[in-house]
Amino acid sequence: MIKKGIILAGGIGSRMSPLTKAVNKHLLPIYDKPVFFYPLSVLMLSGIKDILIVVNKGEQHQFKKILPNGKNLGIKITYLEQKNPNGLPDAFLIGEKFIGNENIALILGDNFFYAQSLTKKLRECVKLNKGAAVILHPVKNPSSYGIATVNKKNKIIKIVEKPKKTFSNLAVTGLYFFDNRVVNYSKKLKPSKRNELEIVDLINKYKSNNKLTAHFLGRGGAWLDTGSIKDFYNTSAFVSAIENRQGLKIACLEEIALNNKWINKKNIEMAIKFYGKCNYSQYLSTLTKKSFK
Ligand code: TTP
Repeated sequence: MIKKGIILAGGIGSRMSPLTKAVNKHLLPIYDKPVFFYPLSVLMLSGIKDILIVVNKGEQHQFKKILPNGKNLGIKITYLEQKNPNGLPDAFLIGEKFIGNENIALILGDNFFYAQSLTKKLRECVKLNKGAAVILHPVKNPSSYGIATVNKKNKIIKIVEKPKKTFSNLAVTGLYFFDNRVVNYSKKLKPSKRNELEIVDLINKYKSNNKLTAHFLGRGGAWLDTGSIKDFYNTSAFVSAIENRQGLKIACLEEIALNNKWINKKNIEMAIKFYGKCNYSQYLSTLTKKSFK
């Protein structure tokens, strides 16, 4: 079972410069919320309440202005800083103490997931006791992603980073589930040619032990990464279209916490006070008026 999660919210954000020269991309808006609300909502939907957010050196206070410690959501948020963008597995070195003897989920701070029965799927993923699991989703341009193939038992048999020759259209998304060995595996990783620790090398350790399982969002699901200007605005447009049509918000953290029974209506009222007069607060006020399943 996985009870702890890490959100990687550091990095340079070079593809989004000049926007990211002064502001970390995870604090920029995807439609009506900061980017990092979306991966945080995914961990919360998984039932994870103990969360480490890894941020760049000196940037903690900006995140804390929005989310000081998670108490308001009935969760526990810890912030730690990454000195240099050394790559994704650095999360497990920075977070070694936080992880302790537990298994761990990792989500990239700029990744967006939306799917039917997403909660149910996530709750399956966090049942992991041994090995590792990733979520695969089809992409049009496999040469830009880590691409995998699976056998009939949903074990991953091949992964290639940015393949030149197409052998599958299933990309490894930015949500990973690992058993506790991930810390030791990360310690043994060597930097790649681009001088970063690579997540694909880590995943391959599990693959070679036949301990790497694939889960799927399903055809109706969306996996978007908000790291380039084009994808950033496409994701915003997606959220805007869904929210304005349905009148339901994607990644409203207070709503998820309320549904999980981690907070009560009093906390919602406090959140409304904190956010002030805005569209988000207006939505929160509707939560205090209706009962949720
Ligand atoms: P990337 O999008 O690969 O890197 P980046 O955010 O620095 O952007 P760019 O490529 O435009 O320079 O990172 C994926 C996610 O992981 C993103 O949410 C940032 C985060 N990240 C870290 O927190 N630390 C790191 O060392 C790296 C490489 C990424």
